[in-house]
Amino acid sequence: MSKQFDVIVIGGGPGGYIAAIRAAQLGFSVACIDKWKNAKGGPALGGTCTNVGCIPSKALLQSSEHYEHAGHHFADHGIGVTGLSLDMNKMMGRKNTVVKQNNEGVLYLFKKNKVTFFHGRGSFAAARDGAYDIQVAGAAQEVISGKHIIVATGSNARTLPGTPFDEETVLSNDGALRMTAVPKKLGLIGAGVIGLEMGSVWRRLGAEVTVLEGLPTFLGAVDQQIAKEAHKAFVKQGLKIELGVKIGEIEHTDQGVSVAYTNAKGEALTLDVDKLVISIGRVANTIGLAPEAVGLILDERGAIVVDADCKTNLPNVWAVGDVVRGPMLAHKAEEEGVAVAERIAGQHGHVNFNTIPWVIYTSPEIAWVGQTQEQLEAAGRAYKSGTFPFLANGRARAMGDTTGMVKMLADATTDEILGVHIVGAMASELIAECVVAMEFRASSEDIARICHAHPSLSEATKEAALAVDKRTLNF
Ligand code: FAD
Ligand code: NAI
Repeated sequence: MSKQFDVIVIGGGPGGYIAAIRAAQLGFSVACIDKWKNAKGGPALGGTCTNVGCIPSKALLQSSEHYEHAGHHFADHGIGVTGLSLDMNKMMGRKNTVVKQNNEGVLYLFKKNKVTFFHGRGSFAAARDGAYDIQVAGAAQEVISGKHIIVATGSNARTLPGTPFDEETVLSNDGALRMTAVPKKLGLIGAGVIGLEMGSVWRRLGAEVTVLEGLPTFLGAVDQQIAKEAHKAFVKQGLKIELGVKIGEIEHTDQGVSVAYTNAKGEALTLDVDKLVISIGRVANTIGLAPEAVGLILDERGAIVVDADCKTNLPNVWAVGDVVRGPMLAHKAEEEGVAVAERIAGQHGHVNFNTIPWVIYTSPEIAWVGQTQEQLEAAGRAYKSGTFPFLANGRARAMGDTTGMVKMLADATTDEILGVHIVGAMASELIAECVVAMEFRASSEDIARICHAHPSLSEATKEAALAVDKRTLNF
């Protein structure tokens, strides 16, 4: 007889492994199947996020920022650096160690919470007797059975038709995080989150970076006042960003890759680079899951169709994270994983899509929660706006990093905070206060009346709240 579980989770990324742990905490017998292999063929739990996403990208962003500071900014503090050098092997090795620590951390958490881990590919085999048979194809083949199935199979990088990733010269996020030498010229297609983060890493390390973006607007989903400020900073740093391009033929050359494109003025141009990163979004992944074996419905883009509670069309089959609708973010996947485990236990798991923060970990960082000015205007919502520049913040001056601002948008009548948008140092940390405030439906006056530590960047958030009422104290 096959092994029986209350809950089987397919996929061990942030959506899946967190769902498995929460389900185990709630007293269920839980299995999690994940197929990711490390260089030695062993398990590498944590999914895209841990292996080729959030974690390695942030490790390289940190290393490359240190390098840039040592090379260009230490002198401002009176610190002289001679003989600055770059050891790519060491930098990549450190990144790999950080990834490994996270892989092992998840395995440890599974043991601690008594989640049974299967290393291999999971696919639907059959539905019978109120349960689902899942085929596990790993070192061995076996079928396990579960009353509830949570699919958390994530996403893959989107390819440009006719230009598959070879991870040598045409790179996805995977190859972009594994280059062993700094390319002289690096091209990126797509000025989205990955384009800007990876472009920043390699520019800081010395590459000449050009980003080609199809849309005429820079970071169209971001509040445009913030996006403009960020654009200015990136261009000043030396990132070449071409907006409104149309990509044509992409050819391999002796030197690397040649990208033919038409620019916004309609001129036909060519970009010759050593390496090309294609970062034009990601697609839901159900490869090898065999959804057809049980009649699990996907939408026209290949995502698993779910309702607001992450229920699929099949009883007791749920799906969370990048494989379903909504933003492709690790913390969104985690929240859905927790909520589904709690729903299976009969509790009222809840994800508030209005308060999911976004962060782009460039320098300056860009972070936001809630609605942009453009969205409020499109919806005809009456709002008040307050901004405060880091230039007027004592801590930012002391740090020597005064780029950017905090912008707060509040309802014109009730003063409820509708969105907060930050471009500047540590925006990723500053946004947390704003998420809490919005989750508790705070007003801008609430933030304005709360004591913030001095000197801290968070005072800029308080001042932006004061600015909503046109009464900043330090500007
Ligand atoms: P995934 O993390 O993709 O995990 C899915 C897992 O399922 C994988 O391990 C996969 O191997 C496994 N799997 C798939 N099919 C099967 C199967 N049939 N059987 C067994 N296992 C299977 N998000 C942020 O919030 N912050 C960031 O800073 C951030 N940075 C990013 C940087 C990059 C370069 C990239 C590419 C993404 C980044 N993201 C970031 C997005 C984030 O990585 C994803 O939103 C998140 O990983 C989604 O989690 P998930 O659990 O849905 O899927
Ligand atoms: P993205 O959606 O952020 O950006 C893709 C960009 O490519 C867009 O600006 C789009 O207009 C452009 N584009 C699409 N097709 C194009 C074409 N044919 N020619 C030129 N430009 C084109 O996607 P990206 O950067 O690939 O990242 C995928 C996802 O991964 C993100 O949306 C995000 O959900 C997640 N991620 C999150 C991070 C974070 O939270 N810090 C970091 C990195 C990724």
